[in-house]
Amino acid sequence: MTLVLGIESSCDETAAALVTGDRQILAQAIASQEAEHSPYGGVVPEIAARAHAERLAPLVEKVLAEGGKTLADCDAIAATAGPGLIGGVMVGLVTAKALAMASDTPLLAINHLEGHALSPRLADPDLQFPYALLLVSGGHCQVLRVEGVGTYQRLATTIDDALGEAFDKTAKILGLGYPGGPAVERLAREGDPAAVPLPRPLLHSREPHFSFAGLKSAVLRAHESGDHADADIAASFQQAALDCILDRTRRALSTMEPVTALVVAGGVGANQAIRAGLEGLAAEFDLPFTAPPLPLCTDNAAMIAWAGVERLAAGCAADPLDLKARPRWPLDPDAEPARGAGVKA
Ligand SMILES: Nc1ncnc2c1ncn2[C@@H]1O[C@H](COP(=O)(O)OP(=O)(O)OP(=O)(O)O)[C@@H](O)[C@H]1O
Ligand SMILES: [Mg+2]
Repeated sequence: MTLVLGIESSCDETAAALVTGDRQILAQAIASQEAEHSPYGGVVPEIAARAHAERLAPLVEKVLAEGGKTLADCDAIAATAGPGLIGGVMVGLVTAKALAMASDTPLLAINHLEGHALSPRLADPDLQFPYALLLVSGGHCQVLRVEGVGTYQRLATTIDDALGEAFDKTAKILGLGYPGGPAVERLAREGDPAAVPLPRPLLHSREPHFSFAGLKSAVLRAHESGDHADADIAASFQQAALDCILDRTRRALSTMEPVTALVVAGGVGANQAIRAGLEGLAAEFDLPFTAPPLPLCTDNAAMIAWAGVERLAAGCAADPLDLKARPRWPLDPDAEPARGAGVKA
């Protein structure tokens, strides 16, 4: 049975996992850096890189011990090679290269976004290509047609902020701390989603792209006006974000070639209101809806190991040990750049 060691270090989670070809997560460990970054209200790249360097080797030892395996048992070592914060990505990639060289095990350089994109198939053995994917995370908001391992067609992207970023900024404005998504979701449960009039950028526009910068500014103005309870602002923000997500994804789906399912992945995919809304949208198109379990939505190494399993099964070659980290690495290199306010040409 195929066995892959996965390593993730592209943002503020240091993670390692052992995953098999039959979808067993034999062991996994995540060291979150929340405590280090929360005083700054966001991720500080230098602090992140140092924390990854300190924590990664012990985490790898831990998952190998818990899984009762050695490096020699692994068919490959899969590490995130981008996109992400370059310092952190380099720590994970260099560690993976050293382990690969020392144990004579193939290295697989994984695109972090491919990890997110394939993560639903780790949890759901019935999910077949091609599927429609809404990838909503801290750095991305895209609709993709996932055609197979390494083949992605991007139909929509954000022209300014990612949705996770908008959740994090809203949390910061409301003084909820970092990371903000789960805190905004909790507070939103106590508020009225219709209480605060907020914009729905690009609603009904022909191109299926997303925009959240104007929504974020409107949240700031609503807060500064002093006219609204924080819970009402959180609930109204989440409702506006959901309305945009559903309208834009509906637009992308209506122009997409046939797919087997609608799938959500990435950290914002952990949001229950967004999951419920997408389930309804899938039903409109007569599609099943799949979402990975919550721990597989935010950054983790099981999805990186799983992407390695998928690459091995697809016959992809191992990567050379002199491979460079790629801070920018689009899933669909042929996609037109989306231009808009806030996007630098
Ligand atoms: N329950 C939730 N509701 C809304 N947002 C959430 C929730 N849980 C997590 N998030 C958001 O998800 C984001 C983190 O997701 P993830 O770890 O996938 O992103 P990332 O790795 O930082 O970015 P990328 O994958 O684009 O490089 C954060 O912005 C966080 O606020
Ligand atoms: Mg991520």
